[in-house]
Amino acid sequence: MNEHKPGEPHMQVSRYSGSARINHWIVAISFVLLMISGLALFHPSLYGLTALFGGGPTARWLHPWIGLVLVVGFLGLFVRFFTANLPEKTDWVWLAKLRYVLSGQEEYLPEVGKYNAGQKFVFWSQAVLVAVMLITGIGLWPAGLAYMEQLLGFKATIDQRRLAAVLHAGSAVLTIAIWIIHVYAAIWVRGTFSAMTRGSVTGGWAWRHHRKWLRKEVAKEPARQQPAE
Ligand code: HEM
Repeated sequence: MNEHKPGEPHMQVSRYSGSARINHWIVAISFVLLMISGLALFHPSLYGLTALFGGGPTARWLHPWIGLVLVVGFLGLFVRFFTANLPEKTDWVWLAKLRYVLSGQEEYLPEVGKYNAGQKFVFWSQAVLVAVMLITGIGLWPAGLAYMEQLLGFKATIDQRRLAAVLHAGSAVLTIAIWIIHVYAAIWVRGTFSAMTRGSVTGGWAWRHHRKWLRKEVAKEPARQQPAE
């Protein structure tokens, strides 16, 4: 946490290191590119979107490679944020009192650590969906299938490839819906965006939304050498 200097509007609390933010934005950008190219390849009415990638064949070629970028990027986020997203007893209390979250009456909620139960839900559901999209995506990618056959001697049947197509599309719908919730929450809870842009939040934001995390940050303040992950 930085000292509050005169003239500075708010005391700032460090929330993400530079590398964590770069990692997050690589995932966010690759997600948006995957969503556009994926939707373009999914339905003829959206095929026009392939123009953004230089045409249909290029979009088809690029889509799985961007998918691999997202998978590697998400793995980075998973390793960084895994422990802070482990479920706690108070998550259930928070969920049971969701109506107070939605009405902004946070005085009725338990103190929250680095992430609330909603954020943990986004984290774990995206982790599962990214894994499903990866496995089913390989099943729809001739180069990926050829590699799997060479590496593991596994040859997917037509039925398995059909199932992969259904699961890939179904997971894509879910992952996009959860992404919309994630972005909506980041906008709706004012002051959250700066966490992923500047790497810090105001003390007031931390006190209001993640008080248990703020207390821990303050307690380790004298020994602090590194910015928060
Ligand atoms: C382009 C749209 C996106 C925006 C505007 C956005 C915004 C944000 C913001 C502001 C935070 C900080 C929240 C906080 O510290 O309380 C955050 C955290 C995070 N974001 Fe995103 N994000 C986007 C896309 C994504 C995507 C596509 C994923 C993964 C599929 C993702 C995964 C995460 C994770 C894992 C965290 C840390 C919170 C946690 O672990 O629960 N974000 N995002």
